Amino acid sequence: MRTDTPQTIYRKDYTPPAYLVDTVELGFDLDPETTIVASRLTMRRNPDSTEAGIELYGQNLKLVALRMNGATLREGDYRISSNVLRISKAPDQVTLEIETLTSPAQNTTLNGLYVSNGNFFTQCEAEGFRCITYFPDRPDVMAKYTVMLRADKQKYPVLLSNGNLVEAGDLPDGRHYAKWEDPFKKPSYLFALVAARLVCQEETFKLMDGRDALLQVWVEDGNLDKTDYAMQSLKNSIRWDEERFGLELDLDRFMIVAVSDFNMGAMENKGLNIFNTKFVLANSRVATDVDYAGIEAVVGHEYFHNWTGNRVTCRDWFQLSLKEGLTVFRDQEFSADMIGTDSGRAVTRIEQVRTLRQAQFPEDAGPMAHPVRPDSFVEINNFYTVTVYEKGAEVVRMYQTLLGRDGFRKGMDLYFKRHDEQAVECDDFRAAMADANGRDLAQFERWYSQAGTPVLTASGKYDARWLTFELTLSQSCPATPGQPDKLPFHIPVAVGLLGADGKDLPLTVGGKQHGGTAVLELTEASQVFRFTGVKEEPTPSILRDFSAPVVLNYPYTDDELLHLFSHDSDPVNRWEAGQRLAMERLLKLTAASAHGSKQELDDTFIEAMRKILVDESLDAAFRENALLLPSETMVAEQMEVVDPQAIHRARQFMRRVIGERLRADLHAQYDANLTPGDYSPDAISAGKRGLKNIALAYLSAAPDEHSDALARRQFDEAGNMTDRVAALVSLIHSESAGAALALEKFYDEFDNEALVIDKWFAMQAAAPGTDVAMVRSLMRHPAFTLKNPNRARSLLFNFANGNPAQFHAPDGSGYAYWAEQVMALDKLNPQVAARLARSMDRWRRYSPALQAQMKTALQKVAGAPKLSNDVTEVITKALS
Ligand code: ARG
Ligand code: ZN
Repeated sequence: MRTDTPQTIYRKDYTPPAYLVDTVELGFDLDPETTIVASRLTMRRNPDSTEAGIELYGQNLKLVALRMNGATLREGDYRISSNVLRISKAPDQVTLEIETLTSPAQNTTLNGLYVSNGNFFTQCEAEGFRCITYFPDRPDVMAKYTVMLRADKQKYPVLLSNGNLVEAGDLPDGRHYAKWEDPFKKPSYLFALVAARLVCQEETFKLMDGRDALLQVWVEDGNLDKTDYAMQSLKNSIRWDEERFGLELDLDRFMIVAVSDFNMGAMENKGLNIFNTKFVLANSRVATDVDYAGIEAVVGHEYFHNWTGNRVTCRDWFQLSLKEGLTVFRDQEFSADMIGTDSGRAVTRIEQVRTLRQAQFPEDAGPMAHPVRPDSFVEINNFYTVTVYEKGAEVVRMYQTLLGRDGFRKGMDLYFKRHDEQAVECDDFRAAMADANGRDLAQFERWYSQAGTPVLTASGKYDARWLTFELTLSQSCPATPGQPDKLPFHIPVAVGLLGADGKDLPLTVGGKQHGGTAVLELTEASQVFRFTGVKEEPTPSILRDFSAPVVLNYPYTDDELLHLFSHDSDPVNRWEAGQRLAMERLLKLTAASAHGSKQELDDTFIEAMRKILVDESLDAAFRENALLLPSETMVAEQMEVVDPQAIHRARQFMRRVIGERLRADLHAQYDANLTPGDYSPDAISAGKRGLKNIALAYLSAAPDEHSDALARRQFDEAGNMTDRVAALVSLIHSESAGAALALEKFYDEFDNEALVIDKWFAMQAAAPGTDVAMVRSLMRHPAFTLKNPNRARSLLFNFANGNPAQFHAPDGSGYAYWAEQVMALDKLNPQVAARLARSMDRWRRYSPALQAQMKTALQKVAGAPKLSNDVTEVITKALS
């Protein structure tokens, strides 16, 4: 929360802490209204610092007592201003004792210590620990923690903190206590406590070195039937990190706790991961295939942080991608390995590319664009972004592409050898990769320092006389805020050449032979790569497996794209060819729709889609992805001036024509991909459901009696949530007469399952027929609350980001609504409010009429009294 004018913090201003902390003893007397926190810190002067005094951060705390080396400090011995407590004169060795009060029940920010459903939880990353006690709350201060928890035994039978339980027992007045000790040094952002009425699923698990570890998944009573998949994912994660990276669990006990009020996905607190319920709870009745995949990824992600984040942490928050980009890469590889097949792996890669285009490229092209390692911020919570996470993961993936899997592993080994139990920088990771492989990766640094999505322009020239193919690759990068000019990146470009028969030609480039794919390294603004011994004019397949996070321009003809779409041995580029074919047509249809001219879709495209749909040699999951059209947001990103309604009409038209023209084949694939019997979330079954349900979606886009009956039957008879949701979405989108009743039935059946009710709101928010007035009326539903982030996101975010044609209503009603909700949310939870504020990032790309209304809405928020730093930063950057 803002106390005075927001201040910008710069990476270049980093200085080491004046004092280090060796040990922390914390005592909590937990009470929702007033919790007493007593802390005892042993500190010593940092030889690497030139500063004199002690600096502790604290926010919304009442200071009750402060003692240094046994003597009480009075005002004057210390000073508190703008959330910093300074003790200017202190000896080299210090024991500080601090007593503070805090009010968890009043804390609606879900940052620090808070109450959810009557239970206590903490969230300390990035700077929540300072809302619990005064502390040098910065990641480069690492200490050993001992924690004593005291609370009412009836209300809070379970008392958890980091590390190992060393003592527990009863106290007078119906209270009890538990003492926890974390054997590892950690930064304060990894501290956690839970005091709650919860139950757990647990088991012991044998680690690589033969030790037993106790694994627990804690949930509210009534949810123990939804913990199996999280537990299984945890065991798979532990095994995978041992096998792929030789990294073992370093604790005797590893706990996951689910909480329904949570700002983000989950948090990797040492030994005590706290999760949004959305990424823990699943059974076939309530969770979809996408939910299952999310649980596997997030459980893996938080577990992998134990090494990449916890054992080796960040020097400062500008280095956030050091742990997040790396850990996202690790969870992506984990999910891919869990599927096991090459084609399954490719589907996960396609989904990653889609996320980048849907969310990261727009961020990189908008007012909040920032490098993977930002140079400045006002509020660090605004930088937990798709750039730091997903583009950061792409940067890590490029090391592996350049160095190979074994080279990457060598780099990881050296990184841990050098930096275990240290707080380091992104540059240290790059140095480990370079040194372990004897490679110069100096230029690679630009991926960390320069924002914006590079544009890779390619052209090819075949010479039939010399049997050469010359591929010219050029790069540029658009200006971003604060960075008008960019220097060339070090870009791995994976290339294959297809012959007329669709097979990969053998490659020789620069005198070196490759298999079917060569990884070219583009380091200059422009370079020519000469392939020799090319026996026929090839079709180039460029940027295979999406080898770098760039936009590729190549003057492909339709015939070339159709050739790639039918034959490319690289599944990602095969999919990509289909996306290009679809995008070209969507843009033309959008223009036609805007001008009111006739919409037409060519047979060539429809036949290409048919070929993929019915090709049973391909995985169902691949076919589903190939049939999925670029989203309205992705089309918008390709337009100079975005016309949301025309885009929507164009995409709906295309879906309807595909539905009409492929009707018989869609029905046949629907029938061929049923998954009778018990539900299993495995990739093959999920792929079949995905293909069957996209067939249903196309059929419903061209609704007739049969498709309506099919959707109704699927809704009534489905044995799992994936099929229920797909059927309900089809009914809603086709404006079936059965939609209203189905929605009502769905609500009644699941009114006890918060995560399913979130889906109920989300489906309606994103439906093309839902306008602002309907969203407002959904907000008045008794089950709606702004206080629960999942619920707020399900309605507000799905409307603002997932229903562009309605959100951008020409009368500006969507923007006025947005402004109201950002301001209302900001009073409760600035972090979530700032996320909603981001929905207006791309406002300058709309027509002048819409821009004017968006600007009014932005200015309205900017002028609101007592706006948080979080929202202020986002809005200021949007308007600047
Ligand atoms: N480190 C967590 C994760 O990615 C994210 C926590 C971020 N929380 C926040 N309030 N910024 O796994
Ligand atoms: Zn993370």
